[in-house]
Amino acid sequence: MKKLVDLPSMRVGYRAGPGETGSDGAGDDAAGADGVSANLDPSWLTGDPPWLGLFEAWLAEAVLARIPEPNAMVVGTVDADGRPATRTVLCKGVSEAGVVFFTGYHSQKGQALAAVPYASATFPWIALERQVHFRGPVVKVSPEETLAYWNSRPRGSQLSAYASAQSRPIASRTALEAAAAATAEQFGGADAGEPVPVPENWGGYRIEPEVVEFWQGRANRLHNRARAVRTTDGWRLERLQP
Ligand SMILES: Cc1cc2nc3c(=O)[nH]c(=O)nc-3n(C[C@H](O)[C@H](O)[C@H](O)COP(=O)(O)O)c2cc1C
Repeated sequence: MKKLVDLPSMRVGYRAGPGETGSDGAGDDAAGADGVSANLDPSWLTGDPPWLGLFEAWLAEAVLARIPEPNAMVVGTVDADGRPATRTVLCKGVSEAGVVFFTGYHSQKGQALAAVPYASATFPWIALERQVHFRGPVVKVSPEETLAYWNSRPRGSQLSAYASAQSRPIASRTALEAAAAATAEQFGGADAGEPVPVPENWGGYRIEPEVVEFWQGRANRLHNRARAVRTTDGWRLERLQP
């Protein structure tokens, strides 16, 4: 059978164009796609908690670089049987306490988190040759925090969230649109009407990181990894081999 995509040939060298070592003759001091020539180092992790400043700086640079959905993160959960699952969500809050996303509490991920309240989240900023990875216990955010975010959403998004029993099967697109239309009617219209309340089983989760790892691509796959690990009395900083 003819292959549509030749995966083995899709090797892209970091920092200097195609190939492992680069084609532009740039030396090891050249900047990577992130525009930074300096090697990521655990000493870049400063402040309290030490991951926050660098994470915010990299997120801001991902926004400036016009990466699509720069706040998208791939969240990993494990269900009651120990089976993992991942999916992309949008990070809607970052603070000393952790990273926040909003979703259906009865969704597949919501059920997994009810059984195993622990998650990972990875920001794959591939175009910048950067990645940040979080791991830690997960808590629901307060109803006030959920309400504040809910109120910031467009009415159309509110109605869709209200109408959707997230992760449950539905017979057809027509049935989905009918459910959305019925919800709009219930609240007085799609464009205007009564405020749409926060659905009972919808809200935010916060991953409270106990591990945060920063990754920076370098030539010859000799990449940089710096990690902050929460300990009983603070944070331990370390460099990992690529
Ligand atoms: C770019 C992108 C952003 C997304 N953002 C969210 C989000 O913020 N919240 C959410 O519940 N689902 C979001 N989704 C959909 C999820 O990936 C997923 O399909 C959904 O949450 C159901 O996941 P589950 O069945 O594992 O619970 C997003 C998908 C993509 C591709």
